[in-house]
Amino acid sequence: MSEQILSKIAVLTSGGDAPGMNAAIRSVVRTAITSKIEIMGIQQGYAGLVAGKMAPMTLSSVANIIQRGGTILKAGRSLEFHKQEVRAQAAQSLRAAGIQGLVAIGGDGTFTGAHLLAQEHNFPVVGIPGTIDNDIFGTEETIGFDTALNTAMEAIDRIRDTAASHDRLFIVEVMGRDSGFIAIDVGLAGGAEEVFIPETLINVDLAIQSIKRGVARGKNSSILVAAEGQKVGRAYDLAEQIRRKAGFESKVCVLGHIQRGGAPTARDRILASRLGFASVRALQQGLTDVMVGVQSGQVVPVKFKDCLHKKRRVPQELIDLAHLLAH
Ligand code: F6P
Repeated sequence: MSEQILSKIAVLTSGGDAPGMNAAIRSVVRTAITSKIEIMGIQQGYAGLVAGKMAPMTLSSVANIIQRGGTILKAGRSLEFHKQEVRAQAAQSLRAAGIQGLVAIGGDGTFTGAHLLAQEHNFPVVGIPGTIDNDIFGTEETIGFDTALNTAMEAIDRIRDTAASHDRLFIVEVMGRDSGFIAIDVGLAGGAEEVFIPETLINVDLAIQSIKRGVARGKNSSILVAAEGQKVGRAYDLAEQIRRKAGFESKVCVLGHIQRGGAPTARDRILASRLGFASVRALQQGLTDVMVGVQSGQVVPVKFKDCLHKKRRVPQELIDLAHLLAH
């Protein structure tokens, strides 16, 4: 690892978008430009990289975006990039454009592509964790998680008002295909009676017991939170199981992509700004095949090989606390 004199780098966003990605792009662009490094913006993630969709970015191309959700560079999941020959083509077009380093903002799919680009083609790549799921091993937080969590919490607060007015049981489904971070945190913050996460077996009986305990002390409305897991709309199956087993009717609310949009919270903007800055500095220091993440509150480089294929687990302490407080 040695200090690199860089003249040109590029940035892309890939995978699912996350609030705060724009703040990260802004930070990467402004750090690069103030360090006298030219910066190219690649459109539509890896698909755009392969298609050569890139353009120079300036201080003003990132003006007025810190508060905007989504990503001005657009995002997407590229199946093409799974092919070795496509990655070779991408490395070649990066080099042909005089680009000496790439900042890739996204989740584990994005990092897998970035890792392969670094390994197979010795191309300098630094990743920034951006996903609402908060499921990247090696960082305490990912860009977008805090905003998604607050969006889901606000939704639950609103649902609780109507649930209480009508003495209703609600099942609120939140995002998280493989990870229950949003579900467990919003379950705690929203005072849910039960939280179903992909990491543990679904226990409908426990949820029914919890609802019955509430009814016994005169509480006639309840909120259950379920992560979507492998099936969007899984909350409808849970509602049916609860109806069959206990006779309770429930209303289902699937929050879906609402959680991916909206203005990022201050916390996400600050995280994105710190990580954007650190990613450019990492490339300047000759670091590659790493993500910049947060550990014990500090921004640190973490090798992709140490975060990929590892599961960041929802802390058991939070699962136990959610159960205890649901009594
Ligand atoms: O990776 C983030 C995430 O929001 C998951 O929680 C969700 O399952 C998935 O993306 C849905 O993504 P899309 O609809 O864009 O394929």
